[in-house]
Amino acid sequence: MKEINFRGRKVLITGGLGMIGSSIAIRLRQLGADITILDAELPMYGANKFNLEPIRGQVKMVKADIRDRRSLEQLKWDFDMIFNLAGQVSHNDSIENPYLDTEINYLGQLNVLEQARKKNPKARIFFSGSRLQFGKIEAVPVAENHPQHPLTPYALNKNAAENLHLFYHHIHGISVVVFRIANPYGPRGQMKHSKYCIVNWFVRQAMEGKTITVFGDGKQLRDYIFIDDLVEAMLAAMSSPQAGGEVFNVGSGVGISFQDMTALVVRTVGRGSIRHVGWPADYINVETGDYVSNIQKLCRLTSWRPRISIEEGIRRTVAYFRRHGCHYF
Ligand SMILES: NC(=O)c1ccc[n+]([C@@H]2O[C@H](COP(=O)([O-])OP(=O)(O)OC[C@H]3O[C@@H](n4cnc5c(N)ncnc54)[C@H](O)[C@@H]3O)[C@@H](O)[C@H]2O)c1
Repeated sequence: MKEINFRGRKVLITGGLGMIGSSIAIRLRQLGADITILDAELPMYGANKFNLEPIRGQVKMVKADIRDRRSLEQLKWDFDMIFNLAGQVSHNDSIENPYLDTEINYLGQLNVLEQARKKNPKARIFFSGSRLQFGKIEAVPVAENHPQHPLTPYALNKNAAENLHLFYHHIHGISVVVFRIANPYGPRGQMKHSKYCIVNWFVRQAMEGKTITVFGDGKQLRDYIFIDDLVEAMLAAMSSPQAGGEVFNVGSGVGISFQDMTALVVRTVGRGSIRHVGWPADYINVETGDYVSNIQKLCRLTSWRPRISIEEGIRRTVAYFRRHGCHYF
């Protein structure tokens, strides 16, 4: 695959109404791509039609669930690229409801890959895995070969789906690119609940003048990646001929403690307060410890570098939700 010029490229984005999907859609439209969004608009997740406001009327919308093979068969599979982002995103919920997680995050992924194999084998496919696939962290920064001891059905299914994508690459010759994403945040991220996208949730809490609850001492390190940096990483990898069949850890590459992130949110918003409480059992059991991505593999392969500091990212996030918060909470 040569360096990709996105102009006129046909792109399918599953989960395209969510934070990552809509952000990649907006960027790809700027670059002239021809976009189809597929989303089931499940209420628990971040689907939001307002996310696509900047490109309203410029993308094809399909309301469909990746668990439903029949509706996937209705699509015209003639895409150059597929960003496979539809997912159950809460790792805590996956403990309560492992069937839902498996149906979406494993079997749903299989449905997309089977359609691609049968009807669209030339499409390059992006898979959005997670840092949680590693489970307990032995040492930071975390490179791709860090041992994997998943702690939840979410992490187990992400590992299985990653392997499924790699199987389709090796056995069926479909070009896939796999990311294990750290903690993304920013404009268009869901703020309905605290189950994921925690920076966004805290921005909302602070904007509403509430007390933000931090479990434990809040000293654990996290790697928060601003959505625009993540989008550029996805484009860089999908453009790189050498990225086919490869797995990349993607984050900002910088660690910040949970409590410092929280304090930064409160300072930036200028409202809200922080309270420390003990860890609830269902959180401490699946806590990974410090996490920071080692991003050298993607940086070596492409010219991508994260550009937005956490201070700047939170400033931009707050500015976005000051203007558009009414569409989110
Ligand atoms: N947000 C994070 O912290 C994070 C971190 C690592 C990886 N990821 C992965 O990135 C992907 C996108 O996440 P996001 O942050 O944009 O979350 P999001 O909730 O904003 O978007 C997910 C989208 O997927 C859609 N969806 C869910 N199940 C579906 C189904 N069965 N069929 C069709 N659409 C479905 C939802 O309606 C939603 O629009 C997910 O696969 C997620 O697991 C997210």
